[in-house]
Amino acid sequence: MAGGGVSSDSVEVPSGPVKPIVYIVAFAAATAGLLFGLDVGVISGAQQFLQVEYEAQGYQVTDQVLEYIVSALLFGATFGAIGCGWISSSMGRKRTLMLSAIIFILGSIGCALAPSPNVLIAMRFFLGLAVGIASFVAPLYLSEVAPQRLRGGMVSMYQLMITIGILVAFISDTYFAEYAVIGGEQGGHWRWMLGILVIPAAVMAMAVLTLPRSPRWLLLKGKEQEAREVLTRIRSLPEEIEGEIEAIKEDMKVPQNGFSLFKQNPHFRRAVYLGVGLQVIQQLTGINVIMYYAPRILETAGFASSEQQLWGTVVLGLVNVLSTFIAIAFVDRWGRKPIMYAGFVTMGLSMGAVGAAFGMENASYLAVGGLIVFLIGFAMSAGPIVWILCSEIYPLNGRDFGITVSTATNWIVNGIVGITFLKLLNGLGPSNTFFLYGGMEILFFIFFVLFVPETKGVSLEKIAANLLSGKPLREIGWVKEQ
Ligand code: BGC
Repeated sequence: MAGGGVSSDSVEVPSGPVKPIVYIVAFAAATAGLLFGLDVGVISGAQQFLQVEYEAQGYQVTDQVLEYIVSALLFGATFGAIGCGWISSSMGRKRTLMLSAIIFILGSIGCALAPSPNVLIAMRFFLGLAVGIASFVAPLYLSEVAPQRLRGGMVSMYQLMITIGILVAFISDTYFAEYAVIGGEQGGHWRWMLGILVIPAAVMAMAVLTLPRSPRWLLLKGKEQEAREVLTRIRSLPEEIEGEIEAIKEDMKVPQNGFSLFKQNPHFRRAVYLGVGLQVIQQLTGINVIMYYAPRILETAGFASSEQQLWGTVVLGLVNVLSTFIAIAFVDRWGRKPIMYAGFVTMGLSMGAVGAAFGMENASYLAVGGLIVFLIGFAMSAGPIVWILCSEIYPLNGRDFGITVSTATNWIVNGIVGITFLKLLNGLGPSNTFFLYGGMEILFFIFFVLFVPETKGVSLEKIAANLLSGKPLREIGWVKEQ
């Protein structure tokens, strides 16, 4: 989901029993999702402590500097995601995953040791390259190596791992902020919060070493013999291996020419704009305001101690993980749009409640309740579903391009949200900031009514045919004339 890939859905491939190696593959790619979440989540708990330490050393750590520290990772991720299409097609998926694991390792050490806020900003940018690369190549690799019938589930699991990574980062932040005794001092160890991530990064690097190369990439490079060897390792039936080679060859008949398609074909352009719109919407729901600044928001809501703020953040992270299961369970039963409508209503009302709470005396619990309900609304809808839609709306020969553009949009707007929140909070005040985010959900609801197709149960070929024949975007998921 986060990121995306091209899958060979055009040919039905017979399936045999799943070999254990497939689970190792899933585990390795899942650690990439976990790291993505860890690095996104870790900064929320570290801010107040790094601010104190750097200021004691004579540096000025204004809200603007904090925003740069948060957002540098997101802008790095934008570059990583844009460059990754090229890197992963020339170096191969496995080596690209290894590259991101190495950057994760070096970046985590760099952040932990950063002697000044500027170095920390630079290191967060560097680490962001790994996050962007992982966000693109891990789901791509998964979709190329997972057996056809497990593909959807494995890619959904990737999104789940992101939310788990965020939660684990919140828990680890709480531990180092409050309880860890290091060098005789209890708590406040922000460098450890950032540095500890070297461990999962090293686990990822080791797991990647055991991975097979992507058979699809090998075939794309004309290495059929090696592709066959890999498939023999990861599939159990000979007809499965042959079927898959056939399916990949079938897909390869459609060359990826997204950029020229974008320049020439107005119908394809519409899909790209739709993907961009969906990602802008996902980010402007305000989800990452909570992910990056929850302790600060809880402080504003009246929770004075850092312990309360951090545990509150952990609760929010947990709600985010659990609610993702709602989407996973219902997205193919109820369809994308009904869930999104429910999500927008929930998110709009809850943001409104948070805004109202900030305007009242003693309404801390209303604010927290609002944030929890908001997270349920997001995680069951826009969180996963925007990524699902973005993997469905592009015709095969433009899918790499479309997914690259929409993924980069996600990171750019993510960065903009990160870099503006504290300014909004200081400028408009907390109530108006949350009313603003809440009000936008109404616009997003209308956007979905007007422009977004329902794609539940429709083949990717049908969606592409409808799009390219000029049907309005809203109707490209229609199977028959209505
Ligand atoms: C979004 C991320 C967000 C995460 C929260 C993802 O779908 O793209 O920006 O941090 O969900 O769970």
